[in-house]
Amino acid sequence: MFYLIYVSSAVKLMNHDELLLLLDQARKKNQELGATGMLLYQEGNFMQMLEGEKEIVLDLYEAIKKDDRHRGVIKVLTDEIGERNFKDWSMGFFNMDETGVLPNYNDYIDENLTLKSFHADSENAYKFMLLFNEINR
Ligand SMILES: Cc1cc2nc3c(=O)[nH]c(=O)nc-3n(C[C@H](O)[C@H](O)[C@H](O)COP(=O)(O)O)c2cc1C
Repeated sequence: MFYLIYVSSAVKLMNHDELLLLLDQARKKNQELGATGMLLYQEGNFMQMLEGEKEIVLDLYEAIKKDDRHRGVIKVLTDEIGERNFKDWSMGFFNMDETGVLPNYNDYIDENLTLKSFHADSENAYKFMLLFNEINR
């Protein structure tokens, strides 16, 4: 198994319906591909973790990069993993504009998902994503 985490910026602020449409497309295709993961949205920024077979994840990332709903796509971290962290999620989703940022996350979140701390220590991005797995349980 393999994962990839990237951050990006929406070309414009996205409303609830636009995010649901995006998520619907992503989930359908991920189910076909056997990909899983978690997508976060906050104030026009995305952060996504994709997991699955390496080739599938890398191809999917290339396809997602071309999507004109976002730009400035930056790969933060990739690695091999023993097993999926989001095995029950064809694509989990948190709109942090709606849920709010929970206090524990302040260790990782300074301002928004473009996060300096992710660049300073990209492992933080992985730890950060796993926090969302715990909420889902
Ligand atoms: C932030 C963001 C995340 C996305 N995540 C996924 C994803 O996890 N899986 C996916 O198939 N498509 C995802 N997409 C959508 C793809 O870019 C693309 O629109 C979708 O796969 C449909 O492609 P197709 O119609 O060419 O098959 C995402 C798009 C954006 C902007």
